[in-house]
Amino acid sequence: MRFLARLLTLAFLGFISLLWWRHLLWRNTAQNQGRLAMEDAEEDVPQTFDSLLHIQQLRKKALRSFCSERGKITRLPPTQQEASQALSSIMVDHKLHFLYCKTPATGVEGWERLLEMLLEKNVSLQLPIPHHQQFGSQKALSEYNRTSMEAIMQSYTKVMFVREPFQRLISAYMHGMADGLNFKEFVQYILYSGSRNRSMEWTPSVSLCRPCLVRYDYVIMFGFLDNEVRHLMLRAGLPENIRIPEFIDSKIRWTYRWLEEQMLSQLSLRERKGLCHFFRFDYHTFRFPRSLLWNLTCIPGSG
Ligand SMILES: *[C@@H]1O[C@H](CO)[C@@H](O)[C@H](O)[C@H]1NC(C)=O
Ligand SMILES: *[C@@H]1O[C@H](CO)[C@@H](O)[C@H](O)[C@H]1NC(C)=O
Ligand SMILES: *[C@@H]1O[C@H](CO)[C@@H](O)[C@H](O)[C@H]1NC(C)=O
Ligand SMILES: *[C@@H]1O[C@H](CO)[C@@H](O)[C@H](O)[C@H]1NC(C)=O
Repeated sequence: MRFLARLLTLAFLGFISLLWWRHLLWRNTAQNQGRLAMEDAEEDVPQTFDSLLHIQQLRKKALRSFCSERGKITRLPPTQQEASQALSSIMVDHKLHFLYCKTPATGVEGWERLLEMLLEKNVSLQLPIPHHQQFGSQKALSEYNRTSMEAIMQSYTKVMFVREPFQRLISAYMHGMADGLNFKEFVQYILYSGSRNRSMEWTPSVSLCRPCLVRYDYVIMFGFLDNEVRHLMLRAGLPENIRIPEFIDSKIRWTYRWLEEQMLSQLSLRERKGLCHFFRFDYHTFRFPRSLLWNLTCIPGSG
């Protein structure tokens, strides 16, 4: 029964992702008049260029405040091995001068397809690059020596993708990261297996992306990808005649809403609290406006 439900949901999600790229509603980037739901209530207020900028400022401010706490890694570690380890999820695009963190199931997959498309179209951006330095062609930042890492981090536009952690877990579960386990067992495995077998699929964003070290220019949130990526591209100087395919993350919202309720109901209070703790840095650093887990369990005094 549980298997069947999972299969059906998976089929549904598969279908939706298929739509993602086939549903090429080419829209003009200049018509950046879409809708974006932001931090609390203002779901249906059309967002302007300025308000999108404001959202970025708020997110970065929250990040800076998190990073000003004690014990955060804010500098590149001294040895090559440690530095490569710390930056192991960071990718670079040398043609368009982007550096981004590759957190699974946050929309970064669509972003990479977009970069490929721009590459195929031989698009270049009019970014003011401080030094026109050649860095080689490796795609992973960890493959560079520390000097080049620093230089790339200083000159490229740095982008981070985030998503509500419980949704990331559900996505990992749905995509077969938990062979033979039901969702409850999967959560127990994550909570009690320590850091030994931690997969990128559920490693907290803050640990994967090292935002205190990388100091991202842009933090993009799943659920709002369409507007936020367009905004970023406009700011980066994408020519106006280049059209970006639509992101459909906001359209699968209701599916996830339903899934979140179902999955959460399978967990004990102890397990829910365990997840709050496991993802505490992500929850505190990024305010996820529609987080069921946060609302029901993590907010002090709830649960
Ligand atoms: C790509 O664009 C650059 C400059 O924008 C141009 O010099 C080059 O010839 C183009 N290459 C192709 C294959 O169109
Ligand atoms: C780092 O790599 C760059 C480019 O590959 C090279 O020019 C530079 O000499 C290297 N620096 C060190 C300290 O090894
Ligand atoms: C952890 O990973 C190792 C190596 O990938 C594997 O052999 C082991 O079975 C895993 N442990 C658990 C509890 O899954
Ligand atoms: C969580 O609480 C906030 C503020 O009370 C509310 O705006 C939001 O809709 C709630 N989210 C969910 C998923 O219940």
